[in-house]
Amino acid sequence: MSQPAFKNPEPATGNNLYLRALRGEPLPAPPVWLMRQAGRYLPEYLAVREQHSFLEVCHTPELACEVTLQPIRRFHFDVSILFSDILVPLVPMGAELSFGAGHGPQIANPVRSAADVAALRSIEPRESLKTVLEAIRLIRRELPDDVALVGFAGAPFTLSSYLVEGGKPEPFAQLKSLMYQDPAAFMMLQHKLGEMVTATLTAMVEAGADAVQLFDTWAGILSQAEYRHFCLPTLQQIFQQLQEQRIPTTYFARNGFHLLEAVGETGANVQSLDWRIPLTTARTVLGEDAVLQGNLDPTVLLGDESTIRREVRRVLTEGGGRNHIFNLGHGILPLTPIASVEILLSEIREGSK
Ligand code: CP3
Repeated sequence: MSQPAFKNPEPATGNNLYLRALRGEPLPAPPVWLMRQAGRYLPEYLAVREQHSFLEVCHTPELACEVTLQPIRRFHFDVSILFSDILVPLVPMGAELSFGAGHGPQIANPVRSAADVAALRSIEPRESLKTVLEAIRLIRRELPDDVALVGFAGAPFTLSSYLVEGGKPEPFAQLKSLMYQDPAAFMMLQHKLGEMVTATLTAMVEAGADAVQLFDTWAGILSQAEYRHFCLPTLQQIFQQLQEQRIPTTYFARNGFHLLEAVGETGANVQSLDWRIPLTTARTVLGEDAVLQGNLDPTVLLGDESTIRREVRRVLTEGGGRNHIFNLGHGILPLTPIASVEILLSEIREGSK
């Protein structure tokens, strides 16, 4: 394994572009990072994965550190995101998780009843997520101090969808069946997951993360009324507890155009948006001072240079040059050419000069 290129024992300084954007400072160009920036589009990531399984990388601090740093060395993004997975903390709660080759996550003992929810264990992340927290300590030590480190968790609704379905959640039949047949058990599940999420994100910041992001990949399958009823109370509790500890927070609700008004009530400091919502529309709904992250369609990076430059410029214009963190609207696709990421960065970093 190659050695990380930098050594710096300090946490990200106040000069970090991402932390400055979170404070609402005007910047010459927005900070930029990409969801799933450590991943299969990078040959150096594939080389690590040839030797080690996905969960082995997540649970070996030196390997998790190495793959977290790979995109930073190549592109010097302003933000580095811990390499792990939203499903990892479900294992100490009792889930039998595996990642099969070619088909995503599977949970062998899905949660289908009030008794299953009651059997889920509460966790103390400092005990049961030691490898993840150790990875954060290593990463923070190796990162340059102008790069922020973001920790993350899955939102309770999205975690439930994997936990209840036992794998790929569509068409959400088991999840909706629990939600409608035993709403009290469903709410208990949200609450237990919410406690795990708050404890995990707090421990990640203690270990060296500068900020945290909550991924709600499946929130968009709900109507706004259902989202308000089944998700919003737990989300508000999570963000309020993090706010009390002055931890900067981002919330990503994929496919959440119709939820935007309620999403604005979660209490997160930053809303991360997918490409279906124009940033200008989001500002109208969330308020002119809202800090927004996003929202280039990741498939644009499969296009030609002029398309990439045009679409990046459109997102920059809609971002308005203030209170904007540049990102994709969802994770970067494994097929993405490295050259496309370089074009994106040159349009953001040099295009404005
Ligand atoms: O963004 C990053 O670089 C940090 C690492 C990260 C991963 N997963 C690594 C990963 C993060 C933040 C996640 C979040 C995650 N994981 C979400 C929420 C965001 C989203 O993408 O919607 C969800 C729903 C998961 C669950 C998950 N993990 C699925 C459904 C899959 C299989 C699909 C796929 O892309 O292969 C994973 C596997 C996974 N998580 C990979 C990576 C890099 C691919 C593993 C590999 O084969 O090498």
